[in-house]
Amino acid sequence: MPVLTNIGQLATCPADNAQSDAGLIAGAALAFDEEKITWAGPQEELPADLLGEQAHDCEGRLVIPGLVDCHTHLCFGGWRGDEFAMRIEGRSYQDIAAAGGGIASTVKATRETSAEALRERAAGFLDAMLALGVTTVECKSGYGLNEEAELKQLQVYRDLAANHVVELVPTFLGAHIIPPEHRDDRKAYVDLLCETLIPRIAKEGLAEFCDAFVEDNAYTIEEGERILGTASAHGLGIKLHADQLSAGGGAQLAAKHGAVSAEHLEYIDDEGIAALAQAGTVAVSLPLASMYLNERYLPARKLMDAGVGVAVATDFNPGSSPSYHLPLAMLQACINQAMTPQETLMGATTIAARAVGRDNRIGSLVAGYQADIAIIDTPDINQWMYHFQANACHRVIKRGQWV
Ligand code: NIG
Ligand code: FE
Repeated sequence: MPVLTNIGQLATCPADNAQSDAGLIAGAALAFDEEKITWAGPQEELPADLLGEQAHDCEGRLVIPGLVDCHTHLCFGGWRGDEFAMRIEGRSYQDIAAAGGGIASTVKATRETSAEALRERAAGFLDAMLALGVTTVECKSGYGLNEEAELKQLQVYRDLAANHVVELVPTFLGAHIIPPEHRDDRKAYVDLLCETLIPRIAKEGLAEFCDAFVEDNAYTIEEGERILGTASAHGLGIKLHADQLSAGGGAQLAAKHGAVSAEHLEYIDDEGIAALAQAGTVAVSLPLASMYLNERYLPARKLMDAGVGVAVATDFNPGSSPSYHLPLAMLQACINQAMTPQETLMGATTIAARAVGRDNRIGSLVAGYQADIAIIDTPDINQWMYHFQANACHRVIKRGQWV
């Protein structure tokens, strides 16, 4: 049985710990079999029979659960570097979108890109994420916005899930924006979502969750009600892009539908925070989107004080967050969301796993959990967050196998 020895600091990140307590053990060892963790604790307590030939000396490094990026838009065509330059010159994200750029321009590019090309590119992104220590990735559709192109994105995810080491969690985001050809007839598109796409996607198991973007220039609360209600009725879990650019009751809508997570929440108000706390919904923070849009950050401390778990994810997409670097997002969470390194690590492991309905299987290094492990080339969590490196990840183990 493989055993990691001489671990400088082991972060076990148990699901039932307070977010502030990452379950740190100094001078630890960790044993696992082909799939699961079998033992974790101080090395001096390691049962002698576990110390077989397959010991791997971690040379004092930090060992953490494989990271979980619980919010990405992984599959898309093209990039939008031109818009990045425009925003720096003073144009706003909403302005650019209203002029036909933004999400609509990525929809055009994604429709025009073949499934094979989309898959190749997304596989390359996953390779790079895995090298950073990320072993599970939630991935949304939402750049197709018609039947053919939404199914194309979800099929890309299905193919990647079968062939890539990284575990994928597919989410249907057909309600991202109103597609340009439906601007004058929004209802027809919402009908297509509710009467055709959601039932088909649920039936074919192409997505686990349904998400929607409730915002000015995207979907109204009423449309969100109908879409989420339909998705629930078809057995899909619920997520919601809420309160990103304005407070519009999105968090309350997520809570009302028993969402596993509400995401963005830069503008969440006190009522929204109370609603999430009451419903046990995870708040997914996306600090890279705040950084790139030069927008406010979500009020992480207020949320955690109210008892809401705060996950940290990248929001990787070609517009508001063109980076899949989860450790960079974690650094931003520390600095701009006043989350401690331990809170941040919990947010990118067990709490992120809760946001994708998997916190009983991944995101923690305790006996019985899946052996998804990252060895970080640093002595402890504080040093890792503080001394930012392009990639501090030394080795990755997914489902008990060295990658
Ligand atoms: O999560 N908020 C909506 N959707 C994405 C942005 C997508 C884009 O700009 O292409 C987000 O930030
Ligand atoms: Fe997003």
